[in-house]
Amino acid sequence: MVFQPRPNHPYADAPRFPDGDDVSIDALIPGAGPVEIEIGPGRGGFLFERAAASPEARLLGLEIRLKWAAIVDGRLRKGGLGGRVRALNADAREALARLRPDASIARFFLHFPDPWWKKRHAKRLVMGPALLDSLARLLVDGGELFVQTDVEERGALYAEQIGAHPAFEPAGDAPGSPHLAENPYGARSPREHHAIADGLPVSRLLYRRRPRAAVGARLEPSRDDG
Ligand SMILES: C[S@@+](CC[C@H](N)C(=O)[O-])C[C@H]1O[C@@H](n2cnc3c(N)ncnc32)[C@H](O)[C@@H]1O
Repeated sequence: MVFQPRPNHPYADAPRFPDGDDVSIDALIPGAGPVEIEIGPGRGGFLFERAAASPEARLLGLEIRLKWAAIVDGRLRKGGLGGRVRALNADAREALARLRPDASIARFFLHFPDPWWKKRHAKRLVMGPALLDSLARLLVDGGELFVQTDVEERGALYAEQIGAHPAFEPAGDAPGSPHLAENPYGARSPREHHAIADGLPVSRLLYRRRPRAAVGARLEPSRDDG
């Protein structure tokens, strides 16, 4: 069912990810620069910092809260960035399943996702096999998935989930490991700034999308298998 905010919601006019089965990234953000998507930008600081650090990139934030999509997209437009940086209201799990074409996104960022801890809130978790399948479909070969959290157990869970997906290979500081000591993108999320100011350790994970031919080859039985 198509989500409709109640008409008297104070941010009912927030810009929304379009309806429809095939939403084209080039129609959403026209241009030729590489496309990067942040899932859950919240107050949006990362989008602004990343826009400055990567002036050629097209950036899309998918934010489930109408309030932050409205405020951040408005600020981007006021700041003259609206042509190549957008913050749209969406449940990223649902929107990314409809985004096209395959192999069109250079990077996905998930900064401090999923502040849900109770069992009954498990259905809200954005990270999971369905999301990872969409990211694998949308990333270009060699494209990046960067995830960070200040909750140690969540970092371990994300490493387990992403590590189990055949499309992703770890691309951290040491060969075979997804762990990164620093954020390499020249841009931090609001929560990341807070975590650093509060002296909280941050778990940072980087993965690359395996080349599709290599994934195919890994799934084919080798000639020696008989
Ligand atoms: C803990 S906050 C982190 C905000 C920001 N990424 C940061 O690091 O400062 C998580 C954000 O993800 C958003 N979010 C949660 N589930 C989402 C979903 N399914 N789709 C899009 N955004 C989601 C929340 O509304 C919130 O803005």
